[in-house]
Amino acid sequence: MIVLKDVSKIYTMGDTQLRALDHANMHIRQGEFVSIIGPSGSGKSTLMNIVGCLDLADEGEYYLDGIEIRKYSEDRLAEVRSKKIGFIFQNFNLIGRMSAWDNVELPLIYQRVPAQQRKERVEEALRRVQLYERRRHRPNELSGGQQQRVAIARAIAAQPSIFLADEPTGNLDSRTGEEIMGIFHEMHAAGGTIVLITHDSGVAAQAQRQIAIRDGHVQEV
Ligand SMILES: Nc1ncnc2c1ncn2[C@@H]1O[C@H](COP(=O)(O)OP(=O)(O)O)[C@@H](O)[C@H]1O
Ligand SMILES: [Mg+2]
Repeated sequence: MIVLKDVSKIYTMGDTQLRALDHANMHIRQGEFVSIIGPSGSGKSTLMNIVGCLDLADEGEYYLDGIEIRKYSEDRLAEVRSKKIGFIFQNFNLIGRMSAWDNVELPLIYQRVPAQQRKERVEEALRRVQLYERRRHRPNELSGGQQQRVAIARAIAAQPSIFLADEPTGNLDSRTGEEIMGIFHEMHAAGGTIVLITHDSGVAAQAQRQIAIRDGHVQEV
């Protein structure tokens, strides 16, 4: 489902170049729960941006569901991103002036999902993260863990091929982080494909398989 072949990403700052990813190879199959672990600055977010089609590699190939993503136009790529990738971020990325319900519903409006189906999917997703009762609350009326659960519900409702989470427990205390990991385990049990990026070895160890990244080099643990 995700295949990276010799992918490199090079940042140029003035006359210095940094290989944030250096000939990275990676293979993630449907239904897998994989963690990507590495210290700060190792290239995790760079890798996430490429896997999530937010950025293009400078070298190498990236196949998503069998298609090399360089073949897509900008517009098509944006569509692929919104349909196939469910992003979950460290800082939740919710819209502050919208309720939990509206935050979860918004991507479905962009995807032109019909109203009745939208309602069903939003309700089901909020129930899965046990926040249906708080659907009318805004992010600032919710705890950090609850906000992350809204963000996860938003990803679930969009029914992506892959959940891509960048340090999803990074802003949470360890108990709340464990609750969030519990939700990832449930999503995996329900057939979800999960790529979880973290610098926390305890979090990484909960995945089926770990991939380590260091100075832009990717290797199986
Ligand atoms: N837009 C950018 N321009 C220049 N350097 C960058 C940029 N983004 C990241 N880097 C550098 O690339 C390396 C990898 O960064 P990043 O992928 O954010 O690592 P991580 O998420 O593991 O902390 C770091 O040395 C970082 O400073
Ligand atoms: Mg990062």
